[in-house]
Amino acid sequence: MTQDELKALVGQAALDYVVPGSIVGVGTGSTVNCFIDALAGMKDRIAGAVSSSEKSSERLRAHGIRVLDSNTVERLPVYIDGADEIDHRGNMVKGGGAALTREKIVADLAERFICIADESKLVDTLGKFPLPVEVIPMAATQIARRFKKHGGDAVLRAGVVTDNGCHILDVRGLSITDPAGMEAEVSQWPGVVTVGIFARHKASVCLLGTAQGVKTLTF
Ligand code: A5P
Repeated sequence: MTQDELKALVGQAALDYVVPGSIVGVGTGSTVNCFIDALAGMKDRIAGAVSSSEKSSERLRAHGIRVLDSNTVERLPVYIDGADEIDHRGNMVKGGGAALTREKIVADLAERFICIADESKLVDTLGKFPLPVEVIPMAATQIARRFKKHGGDAVLRAGVVTDNGCHILDVRGLSITDPAGMEAEVSQWPGVVTVGIFARHKASVCLLGTAQGVKTLTF
């Protein structure tokens, strides 16, 4: 199976986790696009969606799915999103699509994070995928210096301005052996809006697309 076929497979499988009548938390990325397309088939059985990016909102609306403002929602039963990496404990690196801040906000509203990913995303240790960090532009260089002390090489993602008007640093060379500790530390650095480590908001379930079909990992 191709990577695109695996993404379509897990996008479809995620429908089993959608609670009928509820508002669905929807992430961002090519795997989530497959989920959104599948969700269109049950749009009359959900109350709408809260989305983590303008791109996903557009796609949801194009399918006739109502998109709600996150401020009007108190709790979501599930948030369904992809990942750039996921480890065997459900910790993730996210933000390859630059939507990490809104992803963490919507994940925080949800009772369960359902991660959908093809098997290439499963790793023993996070950090091979460059860690995305959304930053306030005037703090970018100082944050890059701090990463240097952790052995990380931070590079500004050229030409990218996030939905929140900020910049993204991609940090190479990290081996994230303590995801929760590193998330907590980096989150406190002045000028960091969001670090793309999702340990506090880790996955409850990962639907992993493999050549043998969908494998369900629970954490
Ligand atoms: C978006 O900012 C990311 O967190 C995505 O969830 C992640 O990059 C996965 O994207 P794909 O499904 O396109 O691989």
